[in-house]
Amino acid sequence: MKRYISVIILSLFAVSALYSQSRKKDYSLQVDSVLSLMTLEEKIGQMNQYSNDRQNTGPVINNQDHLREIREGRVGSMLNVTSVTRANQYQDEAMKSRLRIPLLFGLDVIHGMKTIFPIPLGEAASFDLELMRKTAEIAAEEASAHGVHWTFAPNVDVSRDARWGRVMETSGEDTWYGKQVAKVRVEGFQGNGYENRNRILACAKHFAAYGAAVAGKDYAEVDISENTLHQVYLPPFKAALDAGVATFMHSFNEINGIPAAAHKYLQRDLLKDTWGFGGFVVSDWGSVGDLAKHGYAKDIKESALLSALAGCDMDMCSESYIKNLEQLIKEGLLDVALIDDAVRRILTKKFELGLFDDPYCFNRREHELDDKNINGKYRDIAREMGAKSIVLLKNEAALPIANSVKNIAVVGPLNKSQWDMLGNWSALGKPEYVITVLDGLKKALPKANISYHEGYNFRNNELLEMPDLKNYDLIIVAVGEKSMESGEAKSKVDININKNHQQLVKNLKENSDCPVVALVMGGRPLVFKDMEPYADAILITWWLGVEAGNSIADVLTGKYNPSGKLPVTYPQHSGQCPIYYNTKRTGRPWRPKAQWVTGYMDATVLPAYAFGYGLSYTQFEISEPTIDKNAYDMDSKISVKVTVKNTGKYKGCETVQLYLQDVAGSITRPVIELCGFRRVDLEPNETKEIEFILTSGDLGFFNAKNEFVTEPGDFKIFVGNSSDNLKSTQFELIKK
Ligand code: NOJ
Repeated sequence: MKRYISVIILSLFAVSALYSQSRKKDYSLQVDSVLSLMTLEEKIGQMNQYSNDRQNTGPVINNQDHLREIREGRVGSMLNVTSVTRANQYQDEAMKSRLRIPLLFGLDVIHGMKTIFPIPLGEAASFDLELMRKTAEIAAEEASAHGVHWTFAPNVDVSRDARWGRVMETSGEDTWYGKQVAKVRVEGFQGNGYENRNRILACAKHFAAYGAAVAGKDYAEVDISENTLHQVYLPPFKAALDAGVATFMHSFNEINGIPAAAHKYLQRDLLKDTWGFGGFVVSDWGSVGDLAKHGYAKDIKESALLSALAGCDMDMCSESYIKNLEQLIKEGLLDVALIDDAVRRILTKKFELGLFDDPYCFNRREHELDDKNINGKYRDIAREMGAKSIVLLKNEAALPIANSVKNIAVVGPLNKSQWDMLGNWSALGKPEYVITVLDGLKKALPKANISYHEGYNFRNNELLEMPDLKNYDLIIVAVGEKSMESGEAKSKVDININKNHQQLVKNLKENSDCPVVALVMGGRPLVFKDMEPYADAILITWWLGVEAGNSIADVLTGKYNPSGKLPVTYPQHSGQCPIYYNTKRTGRPWRPKAQWVTGYMDATVLPAYAFGYGLSYTQFEISEPTIDKNAYDMDSKISVKVTVKNTGKYKGCETVQLYLQDVAGSITRPVIELCGFRRVDLEPNETKEIEFILTSGDLGFFNAKNEFVTEPGDFKIFVGNSSDNLKSTQFELIKK
């Protein structure tokens, strides 16, 4: 019997090899043949995922004998296997199993594998989609060379609440922009297929609305209208799907009373049936087992039942499936057809990756990427992405650093920290790969006297003595968060920058005669009103990855003229969270100094810095937008034109942003919403005309029945360089 099976499998390998040239192949024949040979236990095994012994992000079950279970065909995938040696050990065991079905290796490759790029929120600030595609491509190339087949990225959660620590993994608060970023990241990770082994499966996560956790508390319940779910939180997932994303991960949260892990409407009805998703859904870490903790299932057995019925195909780390699905089928509570469907989806991805042809095909490339690689070809991209991610918030003639500047004080431990520049979720990034701010500045300004001072100490949260500051021409101080202050389970009630950091900036300004430049580091919007008046320039520098120091030096010296724009609103107070630019208008819209309007008694509703805001060393003038008609029908192409002029003295790049307002709808529409942008490079005095084309689809929304519609009526169009600095025009959309 055994021999017979291997013959079939071998012939399957041969069949699949025949197909291995073309891109979108149909593997259903091969998949069905394998499926027909599998026992129920082996099928359920494919739906089971364990973690290697590192990077745990949830409870760990310690008494598992992974190697034995793999040999017994009880494991379909491993996560957190980060070396080829280890991957080979596991795959060897899979090759000893009865049907020799290869394992799939998954890992959180969030912003780079070894060459660590800026955190995703930072990259989003670049508004450079092609560069984001490139960094995802590089991450995939490096990850695949380490035997990784599958990244748990991109995180396409819309996040409007800076208290939630996972803002750092996302592209920020805007749904439309989230769609564009989701698309390029998926395409970057996956390429046109996996045949050349340098592309990996992507995973759109966390399905769904994880970023809407009440009060910004990670894992907490989400209570939003169905309309908000469709309008705000789901579109980036749909965009990922349209870009061909291979897998989805459901989220930890419940949505309006139903945990995502058991959400049949989301996983089976909407995603698989309505949207036609052909890949598979993986759970989050232990989220299937957590159903009992939610109070939605009475025990782990019922958790497995509800999750499998709801359409979750693979159980990450809870053991609910492997321990219960067989019994549930025997008891007639679960139809084996659902198991077959899940296994088919998983096996299809293994075929597409070529693992049935050669289970070690990814693992054979490690030699391409030893540590030398980190010093090689991709650093330039990391440096460019780092510089483009930086957002200049304030600049009172302090930057770029003038040639006359000779004595520079660099203050604050973040300037020297290699570890923190990697940011959270940094895969195989190593601190020793990182260029610190101090190193970057020394390299960029070899003739300057650059001295380092600690200024404050994270461990005891205390201010430290500073020397006499009168002899300096410039002070550069880094404040904000350490890398473990944003990320999973890193929610905060207070997003103010530590008082001592802010006090330090004040002290530096009051005790010196020179400009003070503040570098704000962190993974979320932070509040820093107390230090703001004392900083002559403020830059948001996130955590920029391996080239952090060079990227920051490039911007400070003017080698790169800053062009980043905020992908999230920066509030003035923690209590303003959640805060986002595309709010509804309300019956009593806020007006300055008015009473009885939407707002607060004790603070403004205005943000500190608006979505889309970011300065340059040069100035740009954006004209009024013009359109060619006053009325368009539903089939029209609406052309919006503006001219952009560089009126300053440096070459620079402006991100011209296009927003719209649907003046009156069958349900209320936001005050404005982003619907386009363009990065425009301009020499001093140069002018360019930019054209945006809108179609009626761009003007649509989900109505009260959650159907996507475009309604005729008046629309306003806004163009500018920030969501709070816009010029407008308007037109009518008429029914044909
Ligand atoms: C939990 C996180 O929520 C998820 O994003 C991640 O992919 C898994 N852990 C695996 O590490």
